[in-house]
Amino acid sequence: MKALVLCGGTGTRLRPITHTMAKQLVPIANKPVLYYGLEALAAAGIEDVGIIVGDTRKEIMEAVGDGSRWGIRVTYVYQEEPLGLAHAVLTAEEFLGRDDFVMYLGDNLIKDGITGCMDEFRGNKPNSQILLAHVTEPRLFGVAELDGGRISRLVEKPKDPPSDLALVGVYMFDGNIMDAVKAIKPSWRGELEITDAIQWLIDKGMRVDPHIIDGWWKDTGRLEDMLEANRIMLEIIEPGNEGHIDSDSQVHGRVIIEEGAQIINSTIRGPAIIGERTRVVNSFVGPFTSVYYDVSIINSEIEHSIVLEKSKISDIPGRIEDSLIGQNVEVGRSPSKPSAYRLMLGDNSRVGIL
Ligand code: G1P
Repeated sequence: MKALVLCGGTGTRLRPITHTMAKQLVPIANKPVLYYGLEALAAAGIEDVGIIVGDTRKEIMEAVGDGSRWGIRVTYVYQEEPLGLAHAVLTAEEFLGRDDFVMYLGDNLIKDGITGCMDEFRGNKPNSQILLAHVTEPRLFGVAELDGGRISRLVEKPKDPPSDLALVGVYMFDGNIMDAVKAIKPSWRGELEITDAIQWLIDKGMRVDPHIIDGWWKDTGRLEDMLEANRIMLEIIEPGNEGHIDSDSQVHGRVIIEEGAQIINSTIRGPAIIGERTRVVNSFVGPFTSVYYDVSIINSEIEHSIVLEKSKISDIPGRIEDSLIGQNVEVGRSPSKPSAYRLMLGDNSRVGIL
């Protein structure tokens, strides 16, 4: 069985972060979201992985390489434009042939992995198996209607959802999906929808099994989703210290201090992770915070946030909370008079001021 991992898309809901980076590479607990997916596929016994890439292909290829780190073989498939999930399947026809495969959206995070449902698919041999989860806002997803344990209908982002069962970004197919993606027409949003392709299978009388997951799952497309994913993954990290904590500092709870990190006269209250070579000086890093590598946090307080690499936070009065701070960002006090907020913010940035 093969896997097709989708890493195209433009990540509009995570701008401005995604102006400069692929949404699949934004770190959750200091590990790119995509790596969790590749680990889950490797754990489920998949070796042959096709990765659909678009505009951000250079970064994705640099981050994943040939896949040998996970014991998988990666083939890159270039999709010129993000024209939908079913279009991605069509684009990968040469790689997939008519083999069975699992399609995995690269920005999805499934805490318990996919080994169980993959075994179910291999054992029951339906034409397709889709993962579903109960959600509070079904209008944001593809939604399934069940009839006696079978899927009767799928609708993409419905205004009036027929149930609260959202399609999770993991789907399993046999070769028939190739016929489906060729038969369907673009939706109102101009995309070839995978939900329409699966509906085509159902209409042709093929067997599409639902698998409702009870564990935690997240499509990390929005800031609040990233922060929640970060919370969940930090709760299960193995604490450890490969950096330096000076005698004036305190570290409480579930905390990872990565190699070369320095904690000077500061308090770190877990769950939290401090990345490689990051310096925390005269500061407080509170629960549910991930600080990536080469960051400095000086005379400041931060919690429930994600800070990306090479950023500098210094002399902030009050506490930073619920924030995602991008790469190479500087957040500091402005020394010059008159005292004022001086900002240089990228397009689509969001700032909350006291
Ligand atoms: C896609 C699918 C949708 C599914 C979601 C899961 O939506 O079209 O059916 O519920 O992924 O993450 P998108 O993220 O492309 O809007």
